[in-house]
Amino acid sequence: MTNEIDQVSTAKFKQAISKFEQKNNVTIVYEPIQSDLDQFNGLVRDKLNQKRVTLNKFWVTDETLNQVKSGKRISKIYDQGKLKSSFLVDFIQKDNLFIVVGVSIVYLSDAVQIVNKFTIYIMISLIILLILMVWIWSKKITDPLKELKDISKEIAQLEFKKATISTNDEIEELARSINEMSDKLRLAHEDLNQRNANLKTFISDISHELKTPLALIKAYSAGIKDGIDDGTYVDTIIKQTDQINRLIDKLLELSRIEREVLQLERIDLILLINQCLESYEIELMQNRIEIKINQNGIRKLFIEADRDQIEKVVTNLISNAIKYTKSPEVYIEYQENNEEFIFIIENETNLNHSTQVEKIWEPFYVMEPSRNKHFSGTGLGLAIVQSILNRHRFQHEVRLIDGKIQFIIHFPKPLQ
Ligand SMILES: Nc1ncnc2c1ncn2[C@@H]1O[C@H](COP(=O)(O)OP(=O)(O)OP(=O)(O)O)[C@@H](O)[C@H]1O
Ligand SMILES: [Mg+2]
Repeated sequence: MTNEIDQVSTAKFKQAISKFEQKNNVTIVYEPIQSDLDQFNGLVRDKLNQKRVTLNKFWVTDETLNQVKSGKRISKIYDQGKLKSSFLVDFIQKDNLFIVVGVSIVYLSDAVQIVNKFTIYIMISLIILLILMVWIWSKKITDPLKELKDISKEIAQLEFKKATISTNDEIEELARSINEMSDKLRLAHEDLNQRNANLKTFISDISHELKTPLALIKAYSAGIKDGIDDGTYVDTIIKQTDQINRLIDKLLELSRIEREVLQLERIDLILLINQCLESYEIELMQNRIEIKINQNGIRKLFIEADRDQIEKVVTNLISNAIKYTKSPEVYIEYQENNEEFIFIIENETNLNHSTQVEKIWEPFYVMEPSRNKHFSGTGLGLAIVQSILNRHRFQHEVRLIDGKIQFIIHFPKPLQ
């Protein structure tokens, strides 16, 4: 700018002072050069004062004046001490005019201080923001975790509740797993309770089944002691003892089946059934019962199973059919589809459609209205059958159709 001022004429300079000042944000004053230094400095200062530039320290020395007079441009900085600023000036000379172009500079340290203060504010705001964000984020994580913790506690108290968390992240996956676990535990718990209840009924049934013959044995023994035996008492006692024996044998058999390791082998079911029927030949003849078999063209029927156990299944079903049939016929049928062989054994019965025929599988369940133990057995036969089929995972069912009872077993075809 000083160069620019140098180049314009004095008249133009005087006109354009305010323009220069505005454009460059400086203060410009001028004063004709004179020899009285004190007066000269005073006048320059007054001019500056008029432009609202009050300076503590400002003095144009003789030397400076002479240098300016000789056409040099002089730059100086006047430190204003307590005002915490400096005044930077350029002195130039133009047609015996001493021109001062000055600008006030705020102390750098003050500027730094302001900047520092500003930085501190920014830092504090950033830290607060950071803490806020961390808090929000951690809350986002800890809230669902807390919910999961509460739910786990409730599950531990056997309250199988479920979490409803949709955070779209690993926590949601965890919640899903916990929900699944809760479901499975609930089912297992219900199953266990059911088994427990079954066991209780089973034990009370056993006790009941044992008590009846024992009471009879006691009564008949007392009769013998009192001398009122008509000669049949000992027979009755022996019969009741046999009954208890049979019951205990069957109970042992049932518990053994549940424990035994399955010895799987390939069995020809048709052959096995025919062998079993042979052992009933005399009984069938005596009762004039005929077994009708419909093989549906199936010659060989191979299944993968434990021979001893399947033998028990077949024996129980055949003996039941022979024992309980209401007509002189028992009907056996084999069927086949892509996946399985189906075995059906059917006989006539007095049981009507109102009977809860599925209960037939339950231990000690006998259909005879009078629970006539002379006719029906222990009531454990079909419980053993079901236990074996369940262990083999062979599907089975019982149906009551038109006065006929049907037992159906599905044997999956073994892989070639
Ligand atoms: N084929 C059948 N026809 C008609 N009723 C049957 C038949 N099979 C079973 N039942 C009825 O179901 C009851 C239970 O049979 P299950 O074989 O379990 O015991 P059980 O034959 O009485 O005794 P066990 O088999 O131990 O000698 C029988 O008492 C009978 O009333
Ligand atoms: Mg039976």
